[in-house]
Amino acid sequence: MSLKIRLPQPGGVSVPEWWARLQWWSLRAARRVESFLQQGRPKAKSGPLWGQQAVGAAWGALLSRNAWMAERLRFFRAWRADPRGIGAIMPSSAALASAITREVGSHSGDVIELGSGTGAFTRALARRGVAQGAMALIETDPDFARQLRRDFPEAQVCCLDAARLAGEPLFGGRTVGAVVCGLPLLNMPLRQQVGILRGSFSHLRPGGAFYLFTYGPRCPVPRSVLDRLGLRARRAHSVILNVPPAHVWKLTRRSSKAI
Ligand SMILES: C[S@@+](CC[C@H](N)C(=O)[O-])C[C@H]1O[C@@H](n2cnc3c(N)ncnc32)[C@H](O)[C@@H]1O
Repeated sequence: MSLKIRLPQPGGVSVPEWWARLQWWSLRAARRVESFLQQGRPKAKSGPLWGQQAVGAAWGALLSRNAWMAERLRFFRAWRADPRGIGAIMPSSAALASAITREVGSHSGDVIELGSGTGAFTRALARRGVAQGAMALIETDPDFARQLRRDFPEAQVCCLDAARLAGEPLFGGRTVGAVVCGLPLLNMPLRQQVGILRGSFSHLRPGGAFYLFTYGPRCPVPRSVLDRLGLRARRAHSVILNVPPAHVWKLTRRSSKAI
């Protein structure tokens, strides 16, 4: 059987066939579960539920009470609606969230997070001691943004394209110590990538760092863009316990004259 699926990959690398097959089967299974739950969803004027419908409804009620599962279903639905924009089938693992926030903490002052999704990195930032009031969460998906406002009521949640960050008034004009990026950068045109980096570094104080992750071995920001913006990239951490394994990159200014 030949597989012709385009997998979401923030790292944009070619993946081995066994991995493509695994993703394909997980996707099929997830779709079955979802359609099963849809069948079980009670209609407004329906009578008593029987058979598969009743079991589906019971499972639906059970799963929606399980926050972990509900988060994954929400993420999966968002991915189905916009695979390129979401860029992953599942939220990042706790191991990746811990790695990408390892150098960030209360000492960083204010922090910007790009592409917060369901808040996997946001929760890790909170665990590292970053107060909600010191977080600006930039998320383009309106449903995710709405839920982020509920989950992190003191954080500044901006529902906008991260490439438009440059003129955005955050933290009353104060600069931030770190930017944590969960965006699918490799799914974006170069121009948008440049806009995101320019905007982020315009908010970053001297010595501040931009952290991003990718599934590939190379930095997703091309060398030409790094040179043009005067940035340096260093691989900071590798996370084997993520599916698939991921790498965290740290971008900093080469000199005080850089963006
Ligand atoms: C790969 S998901 C990461 C979500 C979360 N950070 C995590 O690691 O589980 C990418 C997120 O970036 C958001 N996103 C994509 N393009 C964006 C853009 N231009 N500006 C802001 N957010 C964007 C998507 O809606 C999605 O929530």
